Amino acid sequence: MSANAPRELRVGVVGLGWMGQVHSRALSRLPQHYPELGVRPRLVAVADPVVDDRTQRAAAAFGFEQVVTDWRELVARDDLDLVCVTGPNFIHRDVGVAVAESGKHLWIEKPAGRSSTETREVAAAVETAGVQSAAGFNYRNAPGVERAKELVAAGRIGRVEHTTVRFLADYAAHPDGALSWRFDNQYSGSGVLGDLVSHAADLARHVVGDLAELVADRATFIAERPEAVPGAMHYERGSGTLGPVGNEDYVSALLRFADGSRGLLESSRVAVGEQNHYGIEVHGTHGAVAWDFRRLNELRTCFAQDFQNASWSTEYVTPESGEMAAFQPGAANAMGFDDLKVIEAKRLVESILTGKAVGATIHDAVVAAETVDAIVASTESKGWVEL
Ligand SMILES: NC(=O)c1ccc[n+]([C@@H]2O[C@H](COP(=O)([O-])OP(=O)(O)OC[C@H]3O[C@@H](n4cnc5c(N)ncnc54)[C@H](O)[C@@H]3O)[C@@H](O)[C@H]2O)c1
Repeated sequence: MSANAPRELRVGVVGLGWMGQVHSRALSRLPQHYPELGVRPRLVAVADPVVDDRTQRAAAAFGFEQVVTDWRELVARDDLDLVCVTGPNFIHRDVGVAVAESGKHLWIEKPAGRSSTETREVAAAVETAGVQSAAGFNYRNAPGVERAKELVAAGRIGRVEHTTVRFLADYAAHPDGALSWRFDNQYSGSGVLGDLVSHAADLARHVVGDLAELVADRATFIAERPEAVPGAMHYERGSGTLGPVGNEDYVSALLRFADGSRGLLESSRVAVGEQNHYGIEVHGTHGAVAWDFRRLNELRTCFAQDFQNASWSTEYVTPESGEMAAFQPGAANAMGFDDLKVIEAKRLVESILTGKAVGATIHDAVVAAETVDAIVASTESKGWVEL
């Protein structure tokens, strides 16, 4: 191997469902988008208890060298540098802690544990081991979000007054949506809170800043669902006996940010008509910015006009914003969801190479989990809760 040969990054993946495949794909593509990093990920082993045709085909397509059923066997290997934790929420704490304790770097999906306690345990293990971490807050990585954050920080919309962050989905809107692990707190920890509100809280914090307090409400609209087959994916329907749904479909909250600005958060997994309606709108004294995941490559702006009768413009994000230049040469050449994960992988690899955290880490997952805790506390006390 020549002196300039790329450094190999040996990867294990725990859970080869949707996110396991997205992480694997992101790591495979890393050298194509970021050759200058000088790192070549090698997909070594995957752990998934459901070794069926789907897992086998996926593992073969990605070129994994080994498929095992028990994640402990994977974490015990001494030939891995990085492990992706992309299984259901109930394994995140144990796998995350074990990965860090074994001295491997950690890329963990949100929510990084069923509770803030579990998330803090993963964070403590990462700290103690001195390994690097990335958490799956991919929406941060969109070039349009990066530009929105820069515009807000530069004062282009003046002092922030109020923000709306919405994460609305219909993935559980059908009453026959399978009663998978996502609907049982023993396995998921929470419903739409861990799943989408964690993203919303991180996005608002990333663009505007820390939250200071909130008051919230939550509701479960579909109280029973048909049982799922093992390994059922996110969008599957069930046909078995009906069982109870153990967590919330919907959350709303009023927010007060540390800078004194106000906000509104709304999230649903049962919103008929809404698919990935994820976005943020920030209003300041002199203008506003708005980003919507469904129009990932656009940013709506309203500034440099009078206070009244100002109108919105839509700009296509250009290669000057965020990481877009690594993907497309000019505006309106669309980037997609998977690209955000390539950026997440790039930031984690930068953290590994420099020993200095870049991008969202397990510590951001702790903040998101504490926001979820505050929402739960507020719905129970029916009052404002400080963060
Ligand atoms: N960042 C995002 O935008 C985003 C999007 C979707 C899901 N997620 C998160 O990713 C995680 C996985 O979600 P998904 O949609 O990929 O789920 P999925 O159901 O598609 O995949 C989960 C996989 O984990 C496997 N699994 C189950 N038990 C396991 C165990 N004990 N050990 C190893 N593997 C196990 C399943 O067989 C399945 O293959 C969740 O925590 C979810 O919140 C994040």
